[in-house]
Formats: sequence, structure tokens, C-alpha cells
Amino acid sequence: MLTLSDGDFNRLYTYIQQHYGINLSHKKQLITSRLTNMLQQKGFHSFTEYIDEIISGKDPEMVSVMLNKLTTNYTYFMREKEHFDFLQKQILPELANKHSRDRSIAIWSAGCSSGEEPYNISMYLKEYFSAIPGSWDTRILATDISQRVLDSAMDPRYSLESLKELPPSWQERYFVPIGDKTYTVSDALRKNVIFRSFNLMDPIHFRKKFDLIFCRNVMIYFDRPTKAALVRRFYDATAPGGYLFIGHSESLDKESCPFSYIEPAIYRKI
Ligand SMILES: C[S@@+](CC[C@H](N)C(=O)[O-])C[C@H]1O[C@@H](n2cnc3c(N)ncnc32)[C@H](O)[C@@H]1O
Repeated sequence: MLTLSDGDFNRLYTYIQQHYGINLSHKKQLITSRLTNMLQQKGFHSFTEYIDEIISGKDPEMVSVMLNKLTTNYTYFMREKEHFDFLQKQILPELANKHSRDRSIAIWSAGCSSGEEPYNISMYLKEYFSAIPGSWDTRILATDISQRVLDSAMDPRYSLESLKELPPSWQERYFVPIGDKTYTVSDALRKNVIFRSFNLMDPIHFRKKFDLIFCRNVMIYFDRPTKAALVRRFYDATAPGGYLFIGHSESLDKESCPFSYIEPAIYRKI
């Protein structure tokens, strides 16, 4: 077993925090257990050697592999269903009204993991907008820092078990069986979500302002200043009247938050 010295641990978590906002300063054990095998397989003789290589920035692929090992990508369909209820009852009618001329809605799933969240939002959009006149552009931008989860989101394979919280009619409409109790998403759903790699520490320069930003269970790993700065960037990227959804176990700092609180884990740019 390779040993991670306090000095190397310090260098690594500081690098990760500065570049990716993720706070692993109390996760020495997690770092050691999740990286040791890979280091040995890749022929590194010590953490020092590996961390030197990471910090040099010479090999972005190596950084990506490390982030894949260290981040938590846990997600599931219908997570925090209250959000979807609010979306369905309150926001979609509002957006249909607001965008009755351009018929184009801009939504961002920031920290989308393996796709459950953006595909789930997409199902609600399809249900709502297929029942009203006109053809609507409801494509969702879905981003993550981890290439591994993005690859699986773009070629999704979900177990039957993971679909069980979705209404049976949706399981039938939006999923296609591809093998033993394994399903992929329908073409219509696939075409409605655009996956991209994006580090939430970077400036946000997307062309359109967003009507809705979902950033749920992502900022949980960020320290306070990182989170406050990101919320400010989200605010600038949100259209007037637009909403920000965060995870129910998270909160925004009342002092620094430019958004107005609407209900638990839902904020609005008024
Ligand atoms: C726990 S998952 C949340 C997935 C989904 N939003 C949900 O609530 O179920 C957190 C995701 O945030 C991503 N993430 C962490 N730091 C990030 C960063 N700096 N930029 C972009 N994505 C990041 C991780 O890769 C991971 O897929």
C-alpha cells in the first residue's frame, strides 16, 4: 500500500479545491483508498510522483481519470420529486406563457452525472409541451466535469430497477429495452438533451440566458466562497424571472445570495 504523506495530501486537496471547487480536505482516507490501485497499475512509485504529474497540468486526461475516481456521481430518477411537482404545476405553465412567441425554453442541468436528471426533466417537458399547440424547442444543456459519467449519459443503460419510480406509462414511452432488464432512452429523449463537459469553476459563456438551472447535489462539496461565486455566475446566466434549483440538503447563504427564496431548494431571479 502506498502512503500518502500529510504534505502530499495537502498539495493534492488544495489543487483540487482551487481548480474544481471540490473540498476533500477531510478525505485523506478516501483519496488513498480510491487512488492507490490505479497509481500502482500506472507504475507510479509514490503519491509524490503522481501528484507532481497532476499539478504540472501536462496530462489533462490523468486529471479527468482522478476526478472520476474521487467525485460522487450518485443520482437517480425522480430524485427530490417536490422539484418536479413544482416544475409541472407552477413553472411549465409560466414558461409556456412567457415564451408563447419564440417557443424556446432554455434549461441547464449543471452537474448532470449519468443523465437521470436531464432525461427526467425532459420527460416532464415532453409531457407538457406535446399537449399544447405549436412545436417547442425544449432542448436541455447537461454538463459535468467527469467524462466517465458523460459517456454513460450519452450511451445510457439503465436497469429496470432504476426506472421503478417513474410512472409505468413513461417507462413505456421513454425507454427502449436493450437486453436483460436493461433499458436505454428513446430517440426523442436522447435528441432533447445535449451533453457537454464543463467545469463549474470556469466562466459561464453560454449563448442564451437560462429559464431554469438545476444544480442539485453538486455544490455540497464546494466551500463557501466557491459556492457564493458560482451562485453569482448562475445569477448572471439566468434570464429575468428564471429559477435555480439546488439539492434539498443544501442551502444558499442569505447574505451573499442574489436570488430570492421561493420554497425549499428553489430560488428565483426576480
Ligand atoms: C452527486 S452528482 C449529482 C447529480 C444530479 N444533479 C442529482 O442531483 O442527482 C454530482 C455531480 O457533480 C459533478 N461535479 C462535481 N464538481 C464539478 C465541477 N467543478 N464542475 C462540474 N461538475 C462537477 C460530479 O462529477 C457529479 O457527477
